[in-house]
Amino acid sequence: MNETTRPDRYALIGQPVHHSRSPVIHSLFARETGQALTYELIEAAPEEFEQAVRGFAAAGGRGMNVTVPHKEAAFRLADTRGPEAEQAGAVNTLTFGPGGDIRGDNTDGIGFLRDLTENLGWTLEDRRVLVLGAGGAARGILPPLLESAPRELVLANRTLPRAQALEERFRELGRIEVVSFDALADAGAFDIVVNATSAGLKGEQPPFPASIVAASTCCYDLAYTRSGDTPFVLWARAAGAAQAEQGLGMLVEQAAESFWIWRGIRPDTASVIRELVGG
Ligand code: ATR
Repeated sequence: MNETTRPDRYALIGQPVHHSRSPVIHSLFARETGQALTYELIEAAPEEFEQAVRGFAAAGGRGMNVTVPHKEAAFRLADTRGPEAEQAGAVNTLTFGPGGDIRGDNTDGIGFLRDLTENLGWTLEDRRVLVLGAGGAARGILPPLLESAPRELVLANRTLPRAQALEERFRELGRIEVVSFDALADAGAFDIVVNATSAGLKGEQPPFPASIVAASTCCYDLAYTRSGDTPFVLWARAAGAAQAEQGLGMLVEQAAESFWIWRGIRPDTASVIRELVGG
């Protein structure tokens, strides 16, 4: 194989990354669109992050996805950033320019919105929406949620000051009502409940009151599992939700948006989601 036919290199960087489905997703996209590329996993601790990114770019890498815990560090590393990245203060997609410049984008919010509204057919406009958790995952989805004009957006977190900090950050985009987990018992039922806590990743399920879920409520977990249901999806079903979905569709949609940034071509996501859910 000579220089001109060698596939372009991409990677996911994070800690941990071994469980990630991103290589499978990007391989399916590449096959579907006829693009020649490879997609690797790079495990890096926070203190190794910058060197690992610059090393991959210097070795001919064309771009990287960035996951926990490096999204804010990727934001700081980027020389230029897209509007969604500026808004979120976090970057999940790095693109290496020919002159060595690094561009940072954030496709998490777009992926989340596409899965909810296009794949699942849920409506956010004029709905009562609850977000549980105020870490990095919540930060990425609050701007698109606010822009979808919900009737009410409530943000609940175990540690109240973190939720208050996010409310302040996004205040100019719309109104967020911050509450403690305890106060949820008196908040009534919501149309849409989104789990943005990382509790499930640790096998924990916080004791949310079942009263936040009515028979018409749609629940969405930003997390996903390799097989079976997440603890939050199981909880939502037991609470009687109309629908309870894990975040696989969002993962595929954010990957498709990164693929578009890198390759200028949009893969069909429905077939990839089907393949992942089935496999
Ligand atoms: P990240 O920023 O990468 O999303 P994080 O900083 O660990 O990860 O935040 C994850 C979110 O999950 C936070 O809202 C966290 O609540 P706190 O701000 O109170 O720490 C929430 N979380 C994690 N484990 C939890 C648990 N067992 N119960 C309730 N909330 C939990």
